[in-house]
Amino acid sequence: MLLLGLLNCVVARKGFLQMRQNLPRCGICCSRPVCRKRQRSSRKCCVMQAGTGILDGTTVSDAFFTPLKVGTLTLAHRIVMAPMTRIRADEATFAPDDLTALYYEQRASEGGLLITEAVHISPEATPIWTIYQRVTEKGGQVPGLWTTQQMLAWRKVVQRVHAKGGRIFCQLLHTGRVAQPDIALHPFVKDTDAPLPPVSSSNRGIDASDEQGNQYNWDKPSSPPRALATHEVARVIGDYVHAARLAHQAGFDGVELHAAHGYLIEQFLNDGVNDRTDAYGGTVANRCRLLKEIVAALVAELGDGRVSVRLSPTHIDPETGQSRQTYFGVGDSAPEVLYAHAVEAMNAYPLAYLMLTEPRVGGLSDAPEQERAYAYPVANADYREMYDGVLIGAGGFTPATARAAISMGIYDAIAFGRWFISNPDLPARLKAGIDLTVYERATFYGAGSEGYTDYPTLNAPLGRYRQVAQHDIGVRLPGTQKDNI
Ligand code: PHB
Repeated sequence: MLLLGLLNCVVARKGFLQMRQNLPRCGICCSRPVCRKRQRSSRKCCVMQAGTGILDGTTVSDAFFTPLKVGTLTLAHRIVMAPMTRIRADEATFAPDDLTALYYEQRASEGGLLITEAVHISPEATPIWTIYQRVTEKGGQVPGLWTTQQMLAWRKVVQRVHAKGGRIFCQLLHTGRVAQPDIALHPFVKDTDAPLPPVSSSNRGIDASDEQGNQYNWDKPSSPPRALATHEVARVIGDYVHAARLAHQAGFDGVELHAAHGYLIEQFLNDGVNDRTDAYGGTVANRCRLLKEIVAALVAELGDGRVSVRLSPTHIDPETGQSRQTYFGVGDSAPEVLYAHAVEAMNAYPLAYLMLTEPRVGGLSDAPEQERAYAYPVANADYREMYDGVLIGAGGFTPATARAAISMGIYDAIAFGRWFISNPDLPARLKAGIDLTVYERATFYGAGSEGYTDYPTLNAPLGRYRQVAQHDIGVRLPGTQKDNI
């Protein structure tokens, strides 16, 4: 039996390696699937250049629609809905409501995977914008998952998604120092003995005026965090496990651990914040310890194939094209070494998938034809070499660059964010090559159905929205050729 298991492993590994060997190679200056050198100088891989037939979206049009085994699930297609904060949960209870259930139901498709917005595992974990005035003016909250009431509300969401044949993972987040002590004033938290924010790996606060501080625009400065004591780490891991248990009770197909974008886990990973001298600081292995311990605890709670992880290894400077790692001012002195360790470490766990976010460059316009983010389709390609499981990419993909990344074997699936907001039936539209409805940035956050559940499905009237042809996305950048995306 043991021998058979070992043999299976060897055969699976060999198959995987063969598959990797069949990937298109650079062949110009190296043999990588994506050429690092060219990527640095021209900001993209040479095999991604025009003329290869890959980016025209025709030669590989069914790349999205090959089934994919993801943990315990078999997905019918590779168009995943990315986690996106929408700030529409109930203000009093931090629970999703019926509108949120409708929102996710609209976006569910047979055999398609949705990932929820970031769901906070405790009051301590809730982000700064919970009490950020400009957001709350419109009303709405970020959702949580630490009470039975919240679990029951999420169960309604899950049931609606499952009823359409869809699958859904719950993203779990602790924001660490991206939080404010004022959460203590919320009636839901007041007079409880809930631990309060902000906490982090160290007492280094966010420098909002720092050029790398992610351009904060809050109406009050962030508060300096308290370094978690070594003995408190187990309590935080326990909070993750508690949320995962509630996610299971709600019926979620799995959980995604948010270990990206400058939140608590990245505050431990990166030496720009982590100055600890205990077992969670110092060496790269020590800084990755919290990540590994949480993943191990979640897998122990939920079982094989029901846990996934999101990392953000790369950030590209729009001016220089150079890599720099900065989300909420979190950075590392050697991000390539750090993330190679973190990504390789994930091979030790039976994850459903690992998701990497591609850096977003610019990317704040409402005109997708001119969106600079789309000029950088794949920055994390090297990590494909380091991770053996299902790898999902997210961030700034167009339908064409997403198909290319899947066809080239860089990513197994692509998570779309903004296009899923404005196209509840995105998989059907990508399959048929139908124009996409353009998202409206002003209604991304805050309460109400506008910009949330009112985007039209196929054949429904467009109303105040407009559409864009799929092949026009990201192609009208000043000085950019259509085939140069
Ligand atoms: C994220 O960028 O991952 C993110 C943004 C807003 C949130 C949570 C997560 O509320």
